[in-house]
Amino acid sequence: MTVATSAAGAFRDAYGTEPEGLWAAPGRVNLIGEHTDYNDGFVLPFALPQHVVAAAAPADGPGWTVCSTFAEGAVTFTDTEPGGVEGWAGYVAGVVWALREAGFEVPPARIAFASDVPVGAGVSSSAALESAALTALVELGGLDLPVADRPALAQRAENVYVGAPTGIMDQSASIRCTEGRALFLDCRSLQVEQIPFDLAAAGLAILIVNSNAPHQHVDGEYGARRKACEEAARILGVPALRDVTPAGLEAALARLDDEVMRRRVQHIVTENQRVLDTVELLRAGRIRQIGPLMTASHASMRDDFEITVGQVDVAVEAALAAGAYGARMTGGGFGGCVLALIDADRADETTAAVERAYAEHGYTAPTAWSAVPGPGAARLA
Ligand code: GLA
Repeated sequence: MTVATSAAGAFRDAYGTEPEGLWAAPGRVNLIGEHTDYNDGFVLPFALPQHVVAAAAPADGPGWTVCSTFAEGAVTFTDTEPGGVEGWAGYVAGVVWALREAGFEVPPARIAFASDVPVGAGVSSSAALESAALTALVELGGLDLPVADRPALAQRAENVYVGAPTGIMDQSASIRCTEGRALFLDCRSLQVEQIPFDLAAAGLAILIVNSNAPHQHVDGEYGARRKACEEAARILGVPALRDVTPAGLEAALARLDDEVMRRRVQHIVTENQRVLDTVELLRAGRIRQIGPLMTASHASMRDDFEITVGQVDVAVEAALAAGAYGARMTGGGFGGCVLALIDADRADETTAAVERAYAEHGYTAPTAWSAVPGPGAARLA
């Protein structure tokens, strides 16, 4: 059964009628550019084929009722003050809140969700949920909200309603990615460029390895990284670390007393440049050559930003030893997934190599699959 069929079935079971439409929004991986988004920098995510589907229809009101195939029972809310709805439904209530805050009249609705985006794997299952809810509500209500303005609203739901201090990458990826391309996003101007990323034509694949590492300290550590970056920008007298160039890095570092803060800055400045270099190579069709940039990004996350864990380091090393062109952790860190750029016919060998390394370390077995860039949020039916 597809995710769309599940969502439509859940809608019928819960509400006894047919949905008016089905809207899908994908999870994402980030090819390169980690923790750069909230520093006004650059990111390069692409959409996964896995997605959240919202089966939705207007309701007589008042309020909104939501249910899903991944949790028991329906949740109804009329008041949308931040924090009022907890758990998974809070992401949807947050989207309704953000739309109303922006002055939109959100139509009362009933929605049923289904998803095959892995949860807790760092591939943005919550952004996919927000983006599916947002797209469904905008289209159901005929709201005049241009696609380019949607990610910021979904991000507000996450930042203010749910209370997670994340940047704008995940919602942008879920809403603005296109099939066969990676999304080059300038997180300051919110300008995007769709970068051709035809792995199959080059005989390549991106192997996604879910480390299955337990997500620990994620929220606190994420917030601490963000705070250190903002504090460094304040000391340096720039609006954001995006404004420190590689040429100005040494001078900037010399003005920071704190050794840890210096390394955080070093990661952000070099990572922004790696995104720009990756985009240049992809524009020139030289996909294989982005491998070393991916691996350098991983080393920077491991040594300077300190957001990796043993499981992801071991997966990167094993993939490289098995012949990957490059490998790196993707997402916020402290677990989650590793991306390896490999020859398309080496997926099984690479997976087996990572599995062997995990067994040697006594880690829970990883899960791996090959991904091609899928489409962003859209109406399915
Ligand atoms: C999480 C956040 C994003 C971004 C990444 C790290 O996925 O939601 O905004 O900061 O971490 O690149």
